[in-house]
Amino acid sequence: MAQTNKEPAKIEAQRTFPPLDESLYYLRPQDAAFYKTLTGIEDDAALKKHILDVQAKAYKVAPYGCICLLAFTRRRLAELPAYQQVVRIGRECKNPIFLDIGCCFGNVIREAVLDGFPASQAIGSDLHGELWDLGHELFKSSPDTFPAHFVGGDAFDPETLTVATPASTQIAEVPTPDLNNLTSLNPLRGCVSAIHATAFFHLFKEDQQLYMACAFAGLLSPEPGSVILGTHIGAQEKGSVKTVFNGVEVDMFAHGPESWIAMWDGEVFEKGMVKVEAELRRETYGTAVTEGRPFSLVWSVTRL
Ligand SMILES: C[S@@+](CC[C@H](N)C(=O)[O-])C[C@H]1O[C@@H](n2cnc3c(N)ncnc32)[C@H](O)[C@@H]1O
Repeated sequence: MAQTNKEPAKIEAQRTFPPLDESLYYLRPQDAAFYKTLTGIEDDAALKKHILDVQAKAYKVAPYGCICLLAFTRRRLAELPAYQQVVRIGRECKNPIFLDIGCCFGNVIREAVLDGFPASQAIGSDLHGELWDLGHELFKSSPDTFPAHFVGGDAFDPETLTVATPASTQIAEVPTPDLNNLTSLNPLRGCVSAIHATAFFHLFKEDQQLYMACAFAGLLSPEPGSVILGTHIGAQEKGSVKTVFNGVEVDMFAHGPESWIAMWDGEVFEKGMVKVEAELRRETYGTAVTEGRPFSLVWSVTRL
């Protein structure tokens, strides 16, 4: 599903793109186990070379901080407090759908699938289809061996995703669209059991974050327990975050837990429709300097 744009993506939230630094490569035991299981590469040096090779290709496509910092090598989904809700949905629901927006390589989808979520019910969506293709290279898979679906496109483009009112529990069950022929996220309105977005919201300004949250809300199934979850750069109080982290100049709008909760419970959803949890954490990336590193906002929005 490769797109043809040759120019590297312009990322507004970041102003500088440092050269790749292999000293940032560090796999925790759980990350090494994940990559070895999926790639079949047992040798540590060979695995490192393989991951760094794909990283370099991806960085040419889109020089995101998460690619530079090798954040995709971490089991990120499993670290989210609401992850067990996703696992339960995948195992117990009749027609579960997991959607990862800003999915990059599809690394998070692969985490959910490894823990039992049916790959055929998982969908990745990203502006850069090349990153999804590189995900197959990274994990040594193909669309046959890893039948998760991919919808390419800009999540702000209404052809990809429009804002719709959150589905009501009063309406009859929405029929699930045929995921094999999906070219837009709009047919998924009211059908998605779990939506994940990590390192995604912080790419956008405050009004864009609200718009995107409303668009996610329209996709979520009204089934109690349906969940939207993720993590991205946060702050104690909402506002601009300007910092230099490992040579990466960051200038972003960040919510604090309180403003993030108030946005979802009251603005995006009518007050009382959802339970929102949000907390700040300090993440570390291998040997990267963590001093001055902005907080991560770790959050979930569960339909009641
Ligand atoms: C920083 S990466 C995070 C990747 C992944 N979620 C993870 O945590 O490993 C952000 C991803 O969002 C995608 N993205 C950025 N803007 C987008 C947009 N407007 N619509 C869809 N995807 C977008 C990028 O292409 C990139 O893959």
